[in-house]
Amino acid sequence: MTSTVVTGIAELVTNDGLLEGADHSEHLGLLSDAAVVVQDGQIEWVGPLSQAPAADNRQDVGGRAIIPGFVDSHSHLVFAGDRSQEFAARMTGVRYDGGGIARSVDATRAAGDDELRALVAARVTEMRAQGTTTIEIKSGYGLTVQDEARSLRIAAEFTTETTFLGGHVVPSEFADRRSEYVDLIIGEMLSACAPHARWIDVFCEPHSAHAFTEDEARVVLSAGRDAGLGLRVHGNQLGQGPGVRLAVELGAASVDHCTYLSAADVELLAAASDNTVATLLPGVEFSTRSPYPDARRLLDAGVSIALASDCNPGTCYSSSIPFVLALAVREMNMTPAEALLAATVGSAKSLRRKDIGVIRAGNCADMTVLDAPSYLHLFYRAGVPIASALNSVGPHGY
Ligand code: NIG
Ligand code: FE
Repeated sequence: MTSTVVTGIAELVTNDGLLEGADHSEHLGLLSDAAVVVQDGQIEWVGPLSQAPAADNRQDVGGRAIIPGFVDSHSHLVFAGDRSQEFAARMTGVRYDGGGIARSVDATRAAGDDELRALVAARVTEMRAQGTTTIEIKSGYGLTVQDEARSLRIAAEFTTETTFLGGHVVPSEFADRRSEYVDLIIGEMLSACAPHARWIDVFCEPHSAHAFTEDEARVVLSAGRDAGLGLRVHGNQLGQGPGVRLAVELGAASVDHCTYLSAADVELLAAASDNTVATLLPGVEFSTRSPYPDARRLLDAGVSIALASDCNPGTCYSSSIPFVLALAVREMNMTPAEALLAATVGSAKSLRRKDIGVIRAGNCADMTVLDAPSYLHLFYRAGVPIASALNSVGPHGY
């Protein structure tokens, strides 16, 4: 077992509210001239460089900033095919309604295992090169027993945060037999998928003819819970609806999108803030030319919030958390510190994880280095690829 001391950290964002000697004014637990000792993928020690204990190796980052690795708690990386024409159409005013998902389902079913695996691997590499160290990956473009199980088996090669999304849309072959498809999801499909999944998710959206109603979504989530899966919900993306209410009722870890919320939804989320996180995905609003969610309303009400990419072929084919952070600050009036917290410790909470999102002794050594002296440059230098996971093959090679 060899230990490494990481030095040359001009600014260290720890997110650790209890770290002695840190600047806690923005809840980032900031240290300057810091060092971190890591061993076997775990953080052993965090503090000022002047007090760093001896270690076997030294890695100097040359006066750069280090932040907790981004936790991307919502992505759909297992897909084949291209839907860039839909993006172009939306930029001229065409509305998103979930109908395009069928095109990705056809292409994904037609792809071979190795082809699909290579597509996921490339997307994961792309994410690490942009500073993401934890990735949740959903199924949802297979929608048969075999294709959903295959998607999850491939996803599980890359992450432990796998999510069964057989309830993404009703596939065309079941268009006139919706209840039969729900029965398939909660029966044979769930049995085949649960061994490869930690979570279950459902697209609960009355404003899309392709998605699931409140009652259907409740049936899917309840069956997933009975099979031992944690719950996540796609809700309130295209208009007000039952998603948030259902997520809170069932104790889901996260309800994602939250673009259209009633006052009652905000109250429910605030009351459930220990349990249910509202995950905002502003890359979707960017890529569908839609209004952004009102993050300030949620923060002011005391709701727990996360930011994630939703990287998927339809509503947002961007895997970039720095892009999401820039949108959150510029378009949603979050402060840089609030945005960074939401994409690290906030999204870790949405995955019910305490071992990531905070740079603290005992946690995973998941850190991101910025080719800049301070975390503010993530926003200040928007669009410039300054973030990469420490030790990833990123633009800076640390
Ligand atoms: O999170 N809204 C549902 N699912 C995805 C989009 C899927 C697609 O269009 O391919 C989302 O936005
Ligand atoms: Fe999604």
